[in-house]
Amino acid sequence: MFDRLQEPASDKIIALMAEYRADPRAQKLDLGVGVYRDESGATPIMGAVRAAGARLQDSETTKAYTGLAGDPAFLQAISRLVLGDSVPLDRTAAAAAPGGTGALHQAFALIRSAAPDCTLWLPDPTWPNHLSLIAHQGLTHATYRYFDAATGAVDMAGLMEDLQQAAPGDVVLLHGCCHNPTGADPMPSEWDEIAAMLRARQLIPLVDLAYQGFGDGIEADASAVRMLASTLDEVLIAASGSKSFGLYRDRVGALLAVARDPAEAERTGKVLTALNRVTYSFPPDHGARLVQTVLDDPALRADWEEELGRMRLRILALREALAAELRRLTNSDRFDFLLRHRGMFSRLPAEPAQVARLREEHGIYMTGDGRINIAGLGEAAVPLLARAIVETGL
Ligand code: LMR
Repeated sequence: MFDRLQEPASDKIIALMAEYRADPRAQKLDLGVGVYRDESGATPIMGAVRAAGARLQDSETTKAYTGLAGDPAFLQAISRLVLGDSVPLDRTAAAAAPGGTGALHQAFALIRSAAPDCTLWLPDPTWPNHLSLIAHQGLTHATYRYFDAATGAVDMAGLMEDLQQAAPGDVVLLHGCCHNPTGADPMPSEWDEIAAMLRARQLIPLVDLAYQGFGDGIEADASAVRMLASTLDEVLIAASGSKSFGLYRDRVGALLAVARDPAEAERTGKVLTALNRVTYSFPPDHGARLVQTVLDDPALRADWEEELGRMRLRILALREALAAELRRLTNSDRFDFLLRHRGMFSRLPAEPAQVARLREEHGIYMTGDGRINIAGLGEAAVPLLARAIVETGL
């Protein structure tokens, strides 16, 4: 049997992590995988998460199974974090999943059972694993224009025009904030236009919310998804705790479904639970319990919000420093889009050959499409990166 297996194409982001590790040069810069780093290059355990861990260690009395959909207190806490009070909780269903990817997997499984013939519309570009997950489940996808490389902003005209091709009942994948890989998000008025178009054309949004708190703040980053939830009949949301709580390896996530009414929400919740059972039975609990402990304890929550706020401001300061250095070196404002982008990523106007030169000649690692992880950049490395960008002719 194994002889019939085809070697899978390697995931480009994960392959880049391995290449970086294998590079023996002392002076190298990892702007690849989307992981937050502090000035020393470390990905810290957040203070509130550590404190919640210590508290759990002392208070947890059992590791017996919890609910198939996950711990109800976690589901309530993460639903509130994402949705605020934009919709009554009895219109929502939720199931815990191993990370944002697990939540996306379950979203695609739900779509496959409810609407196997629909088309999933993905922004071009998007996180490459979206495509892999969809192909794995045998679903059909199409892309819509998203990014205007000339301005570094969202190509709203292209987006609106392409989604005119979508049929009623199709699903549109949207990044709730901090678009990966471009860093370009719709403005609030553009989100309103998108919502109106989704409603008029009877399209269902699937919102990937992996970077809440890294753009304009915890509440601000949820405002688009909350607006969609309060104005549309049906919304799917894949939420991740990996970045916002620094729990990458602990795999915390949840799939949330906003339904038309409480009866549909209840049935959808039963389907999400059944999908968990056939995928991994019970979702992982430890990381979810850390998140719930932080969110439900006022002191831990305040500490978490403060630390996440500092991380966000550090990324913004790095954006400013890099844009200023590039303005100085190029005597132009060509790179000012860095200031308008939000979250960990920005996409540089780099050809694949230039990305390769940056890696080979300068030890600077970014994904092949020119995506840089600003959060991987220390202040000290800003002049080096700016000079290398200019020398490479970007
Ligand atoms: C990324 O885009 O770099 C992150 O979301 C990590 C991953 O799993 O690809």
